[in-house]
Amino acid sequence: MKKYSKVLGASLFVITLVSACFVLFKQYSRQQKVSNEVKSIKIGVCIYDEYDTYVSTLIQEVSKLAKQKEMETGFAITLDIQSASGSQITQNDQIENFVDKEYDALCVGLVDRTDASGVIDKAKSADIPIVFFNRELVEEDLQRWDKIYYVGADAAESGNMQGNIIVEACEKDFDLIDKNKDGVLQYVMLEGEPGHQDALVRTENSIKTVMNAGYTLQKLGDEIANWNRAQATTKMATWIDEFGEDIEVVFANNDDMALGALDALKKSKIEQYPIIVGVDGLQNGLESVKKKELIGTVFNDYRGQAKAIVDMAFALAMKQDFPKSIQFVNNKYVYIPYQKITYDNVQEYIRLLEQ
Ligand code: BGC
Repeated sequence: MKKYSKVLGASLFVITLVSACFVLFKQYSRQQKVSNEVKSIKIGVCIYDEYDTYVSTLIQEVSKLAKQKEMETGFAITLDIQSASGSQITQNDQIENFVDKEYDALCVGLVDRTDASGVIDKAKSADIPIVFFNRELVEEDLQRWDKIYYVGADAAESGNMQGNIIVEACEKDFDLIDKNKDGVLQYVMLEGEPGHQDALVRTENSIKTVMNAGYTLQKLGDEIANWNRAQATTKMATWIDEFGEDIEVVFANNDDMALGALDALKKSKIEQYPIIVGVDGLQNGLESVKKKELIGTVFNDYRGQAKAIVDMAFALAMKQDFPKSIQFVNNKYVYIPYQKITYDNVQEYIRLLEQ
């Protein structure tokens, strides 16, 4: 009897042990299954126009950083990039499509920055947060929902820096710049798209800064060239026909238009080129500053902006807090500082962009 109960006890022990192992094994394989599940998020990116030099550079950087983020976090990130080719209606349809596919977050460079309500309402109804970028929406629109943000730069700062570049050049070489020796700076202005915050504010602040430094300006022409090099060449060629050597300064709201003006000058018989200032500081602009064809430009830090866009979109998609490094203005805006570039520091930026 005693022998029998010993055998029974031993068998019970073995059974308990085996079943405990079985439970542990099941638990382990369930955990394995969870961690092997594909962890992924989907981010929809809308841009106003794929042919814009600055925006396409910014988006390339966004793609690069999203890949880095994948490596760092182990989450697969699907970045679906769509261009609206200049149509807000097309962009609204693209947003609707992202919403139908239940994307986790959206990044939007509006076509019409004054017409954000359609985009916001669609995303809000599906609870999909948005990081707007580059084309600053109006304050009331940004207040429509607490899951929308803006990443860009302070347009006034870039206009002031353009003005400072001209002032510094005049302080050094006014007699040379003032070609007709009348003590007045005759200038032309090439503007970006009408209604774009960077076009309006850069135009105003660049001139104001030069005037505040005590120089007298005379406007020979002011035309919209929609951020576009070829359009700027056409406008500049007309001014060259009309004013010839009298043009002393060219203000351009971005480098593509500054380079367009330069193209027109190169085709003309002008002997002494006016000084030209742009904004963006991408490779093509930097090369021209280095060759002293542009007197300067302003770095529109696409890298800093792309980093903020990716970090914020990722955090929103994952329902996480934003990284501490992101600094907000009024809890909604992230403005990455502009930087002034002239011949003296251009090499630094050429090196930076090579990295
Ligand atoms: C850039 C321009 C660009 C525009 C597009 C501006 O911030 O300076 O080069 O064309 O954004 O929205």
